[in-house]
Amino acid sequence: MALLAACGNDSGGGGNAAGNPDALDGRGEITFATGKDTSGNMVKLVDKWNAEHPTEKVRIVELPESADGQRQQMVQNAQVKSDAFTVLNLDVVWTAEFAANKWVVELPQSQFQLDKFLKPAVDTAKYRDKLYAVPVYSDGGLLYYRKDLLDKAGVQAPKTWTELLSACQKVDALPEATGMECYAGQFEKYEGLTCNFSEAVQSAGGSLLNAEGKPTLNTPEAKAGLNVLVQGFQSGAIPREAITYKEEEGRRAFQAGKLLFHRQWPYQWALANKTDGSSQVAGKFDVAPLPGQTSGGSSTLGGHNFAISSFAKNKATALDFIKFFTSEENEKSNLIATSQAPTLASLYEDAELTKQFPYLPTLKDSILSAKPRPQAVKYGDVTSAIQENAYAALTGAKTPDQALADMQKKLEELTAQ
Ligand code: GLC
Repeated sequence: MALLAACGNDSGGGGNAAGNPDALDGRGEITFATGKDTSGNMVKLVDKWNAEHPTEKVRIVELPESADGQRQQMVQNAQVKSDAFTVLNLDVVWTAEFAANKWVVELPQSQFQLDKFLKPAVDTAKYRDKLYAVPVYSDGGLLYYRKDLLDKAGVQAPKTWTELLSACQKVDALPEATGMECYAGQFEKYEGLTCNFSEAVQSAGGSLLNAEGKPTLNTPEAKAGLNVLVQGFQSGAIPREAITYKEEEGRRAFQAGKLLFHRQWPYQWALANKTDGSSQVAGKFDVAPLPGQTSGGSSTLGGHNFAISSFAKNKATALDFIKFFTSEENEKSNLIATSQAPTLASLYEDAELTKQFPYLPTLKDSILSAKPRPQAVKYGDVTSAIQENAYAALTGAKTPDQALADMQKKLEELTAQ
């Protein structure tokens, strides 16, 4: 029988991984398992913590770059009840799976001022109304575009796919556009494809599941959404190599000046604006909401939450480390260093920050209008079914109709369980 969580007990000692796994006690060294630190700022914040907490040092365990690779290592670790990872940097879509399997502990809601966080981000950290993680940064998809070239061609940022394709044609006529491609997103077979597929379906007015949680992939909207991507590949508006793009491959192409439009998360803003020679497009781009079929589209809700492994020692230190990361001061410094989306609502209202990061209002709208991906305990199976079938359609291995029919069938099985 699960014991009640003992909150805020920092009685010291070596932790009680062998005792009550829900108790948040024990102080000392911990680890922090997180995906590849593309900005380098994670290390800086951890160094700051370590300088302030010499007896409770945090060691970063760097996991793979792709979301699926990170999940796989965390799941394997949890399945053998290993204490190797203390704080887990969870993708927002994994909360249900980790909470239902009791791989992470329930957190005391009263110790976090949850009303100060963006509500959609807080919702991703809960399972059955209980808090299992704390939102550290949110994510909303944005349409990055080359403002310099659009201005030169006399076109506005597109609101629809048709406008986007027509903008590409107009820019294509400019000498500066030689060798450039029109559009890319994340189309490799991994979580990023689930995001891009969901957004394509949403852009046509559809959804993956309806309000009752039943799959809705056998709809004209889902077909219209998938067809935008399939036809994009067929026509060459999406370059062939984009089928191998995760976030970082696409970012490198955008920064090299090879893409006119790129669907990407906010972290690209800071990196693509670097003036140290790593980006050819610093100061030349802007962002807009994602395009839709007849009017603007919407993003899938992304982001990352920190949770505490049930099998770890020193959970009191882990809890403080999460509080440290989500303090206003550290969220603000993370925004300034990385342009990742903060989870504290106040930072979107800060006039100085908005001046420095003019994309903040567009980003806030992207997050507040974003649609969550399915919140499933078997999320790994759900996303595999989406990835495999969307990928098969994009590569021509299945017709869009077949891919959607197979996806629908698989998701019906999974949601019926
Ligand atoms: C970003 C998002 C995350 C999403 C992932 C897909 O990290 O924050 O929610 O699952 O990209 O690649």
